[in-house]
Amino acid sequence: MKQLHKQPSVNHRRDEEIPTSLSSSYSPKAFKHPRSLPRSINYIFREQRLLFILVGILIGSTFFILQPTLSRLSPSEPNPSIPRSFSSSSLHDRINTASFSTDLRSNAGRVPAGLGKRRLRIVVTGGAGFVGSHLVDQLLSRGNDVIVIDNFFTGRKENVAHHFGNPRFELIRHDVVEPILLEVDQIYHLACPASPVHYKYNPGCIFEMVFEALDCDYKTNVMGTLNMLGLAKRIGARFLITSTSEVYGDPLEHPQKETYWGNVNPIGERSCYDEGKRTAETLAMDYHRGAGVEVRIARIFNTYGPRMCLDDGRVVSNFVAQAIRKQPLTVYGDGKQTRSFQYVSDLVNGLVALMEGEHVGPFNLGNPGEFTMLELAEVVKETIDSSATIEFRPNTADDPHKRKPDIGKAKELLNWEPKVSLREGLPLMVSDFQNRILNEDEGKGN
Ligand SMILES: NC(=O)c1ccc[n+]([C@@H]2O[C@H](COP(=O)([O-])OP(=O)(O)OC[C@H]3O[C@@H](n4cnc5c(N)ncnc54)[C@H](O)[C@@H]3O)[C@@H](O)[C@H]2O)c1
Repeated sequence: MKQLHKQPSVNHRRDEEIPTSLSSSYSPKAFKHPRSLPRSINYIFREQRLLFILVGILIGSTFFILQPTLSRLSPSEPNPSIPRSFSSSSLHDRINTASFSTDLRSNAGRVPAGLGKRRLRIVVTGGAGFVGSHLVDQLLSRGNDVIVIDNFFTGRKENVAHHFGNPRFELIRHDVVEPILLEVDQIYHLACPASPVHYKYNPGCIFEMVFEALDCDYKTNVMGTLNMLGLAKRIGARFLITSTSEVYGDPLEHPQKETYWGNVNPIGERSCYDEGKRTAETLAMDYHRGAGVEVRIARIFNTYGPRMCLDDGRVVSNFVAQAIRKQPLTVYGDGKQTRSFQYVSDLVNGLVALMEGEHVGPFNLGNPGEFTMLELAEVVKETIDSSATIEFRPNTADDPHKRKPDIGKAKELLNWEPKVSLREGLPLMVSDFQNRILNEDEGKGN
């Protein structure tokens, strides 16, 4: 025991055992002398000094390797390439952030090829409707995960049935008037009974059905939009609302620019839709200004294409369905009121450009080609049946006299403009309508 006890003291004082002659001749220069090399090696190997040196080197090199990464992650230093919070970041920043965090796990500082874009989770309300289903096609084809929310008020499962079985596609039957919680990156909010006039013009309708549609329209635009904005705020998602050219009412400015505030009758038959959309735009801007939600506002002008509701009272679908069924084309008023008609693929490209861009809007998305109702009827006759006749009926209340978008803003800021003319787009819609009209169950809802 005594020996064991003594041993450490010997070890600790080993330098004292060095002869005085040698210790007195010590100088830093003498260390470098070849003859003193064995002694310095001895020195290093003694008392586990080598181990300490190696551990020191290891700690030092670890620090230098991690230092650039740590400084980039430091919350105290603002770095424009890394957003502070999900909700305040731009989409491109979020994509960069996603690939950056992948880099951390694999290879610091380098972006591996193919990791430039990450797959987004996107919800499309009203995704089983006409425009929504085409948008869903495009979003899925771009490699995103898509969730459709729809109550099938005017939409149809058949519009998205070709995606059933795709693991990146989900369909939820839900009324957006009720809240829902989902984790997504983007929300395209299209849900809205787009044509309450569907019931109004239908000669077989009863008053209760009209009221239900109108009530539902306003509720969806207000309560539904509030719910989806609330969701966007909670989860930090970007939110796009599909507003309408109807916000311009019966316009006193022609063509209509986004700066025009409109001429809308607040108590008319169309007001539930027009004012509903105006309120939805207001709510979107309030959430943007007040809660920092990234919103995008599209003002859509008349759009047509395959999968439109057969009997929804919209003029293109009316004329096409009537011509195929060998019925007279009904023109309301003198037929000199004008509209612009946009093919659905152009609209979808515009919506995606708006969502992915950095501008809130509102943006007019429409085809500036302007047609009177009589001119449209002539194009439909040329395309489907030149012997079709026209039947005039009294005009509906508050029917706008003119409608034509000024798309200068979308051209400049979204680099977007429509590509498909009416004469090119109409035949694509006609073949779809012909197939569906052949099916006697078509147009009767789900
Ligand atoms: N097509 C056009 O010409 C046009 C023009 C201007 C604006 N818009 C807007 O574009 C959007 C899509 O229009 P669309 O032409 O595809 O109409 P659509 O009727 O075909 O689609 C609307 C979809 O929303 C669904 N929906 C309605 N209320 C809902 C609710 N409460 N909860 C869940 N789902 C609901 C419907 O079932 C339908 O699938 C609408 O917001 C519409 O106002 C369309």
